[in-house]
Amino acid sequence: MTEQTTDYGRLFVGSKEQIFSKAAALAVEAHAGTKSKHFTWAFTGGSTPQDWYKWVASAKVLPSGVIATTHFTVSDERHVPLNSDQSNFGNAERLLLSPLDVPAEHRHPWVVAYEPPQAAEAYRRTMMILAGPGKGYDVCFLGMGDDAHTASFFPGSPLLEDDGNLPFAAIDVPGKGWRLTITPAGLRSCGLIVVMTLGAGKAEALRRVMRGPFDPTQAPAQILATCSDRVVWLVDEAAASQL
Ligand code: 6PG
Repeated sequence: MTEQTTDYGRLFVGSKEQIFSKAAALAVEAHAGTKSKHFTWAFTGGSTPQDWYKWVASAKVLPSGVIATTHFTVSDERHVPLNSDQSNFGNAERLLLSPLDVPAEHRHPWVVAYEPPQAAEAYRRTMMILAGPGKGYDVCFLGMGDDAHTASFFPGSPLLEDDGNLPFAAIDVPGKGWRLTITPAGLRSCGLIVVMTLGAGKAEALRRVMRGPFDPTQAPAQILATCSDRVVWLVDEAAASQL
């Protein structure tokens, strides 16, 4: 695996197996070094994380002590029931948390039973209790779409210009429905941010982020420049092919 420093964080390029293994290792290292009363770990959504959950569950790479003392959540969510295959927390629960027997009191989904604004407010309160005032997650996983979006910041998202300095928000995304998401302010309060990006379909977007003009409204993942000191990108060769 190669490593380089970019304006958007440390960038590792390797095989899928290397990337999946490094992602788990980074979270375990962060857990070992945490000073948090409650270690909080946020997954993200999409197909890459689902592949990774299956790998983590089968590879048995998480120590029992990490599983038993970590509070799991998701950095962004679709406003759908947990039993939906569109639910980011639901997928994490079905593919990883349940196979690892994570206790129910350590599972923290967004409360999608509430209307979106109320769900965001309830989540803010949950994280205030879990992580403490002004703190985000100890580890925040993100992906990146082929439009260079990350979390639920899509091109043109108002959150990229003004998130009200709130760590979590609800936003109605044109054509995608309501999303519940960490905000740029929330990302800046996280300990470690791990962005997993795999596949040739992401190569052009990754080039725009890493090498293109700085314009987060058009390449939302560039917002990570504001917290690059704690960002690690884990990218396979196909996604890195235009760098
Ligand atoms: C979501 C995610 C989103 C995702 C990227 C990458 O809820 O859709 O949070 O930001 O991480 O779209 O998804 P893939 O890994 O499936 O390409």
